[in-house]
Amino acid sequence: MASHRVTVVGHRTFEVEEGEKLALAIERSGFDISHRCGGKARCTTCRVRFLSPEPPMGEAERACLEEDGELGNYRLACQIRVDRDMEVEVLMRASKQGWDPGIPLEP
Ligand code: FES
Repeated sequence: MASHRVTVVGHRTFEVEEGEKLALAIERSGFDISHRCGGKARCTTCRVRFLSPEPPMGEAERACLEEDGELGNYRLACQIRVDRDMEVEVLMRASKQGWDPGIPLEP
C-alpha cells in the first residue's frame, strides 16, 4: 500500500499509509492532538492549518466549518484521509489546552 510523509510543525515527519485518518496518524506519531468529540466533526478541537496544498473537503467537515464561520481558517484532521504528503500545524494541542485529548478516534 502507498504511504505518504506527514510533517507536524514542531514535532517530526513520519510515514502514513494511504487512507489513514490524519488525526489518528498524528496521534500515533506521539503528538497529543485534541479530538474531544471523537472524530464526529463537532468539536473542531482537531483543527490543523495546512502549510502544504490541502486535500479535498468532505460534506461533514464543510458543514461544521460553515456553521462556525471558520471555512478557510483551518481544517479538521478527524475528517481528512491522508492521500498525499502533508505538512500541518496542530492548533489545539491537548497538553497546551489543559485537557486530555478526548474520546478515542476510530480508524
Ligand atoms: S471535530 Fe471533533 S475530533 Fe474532529
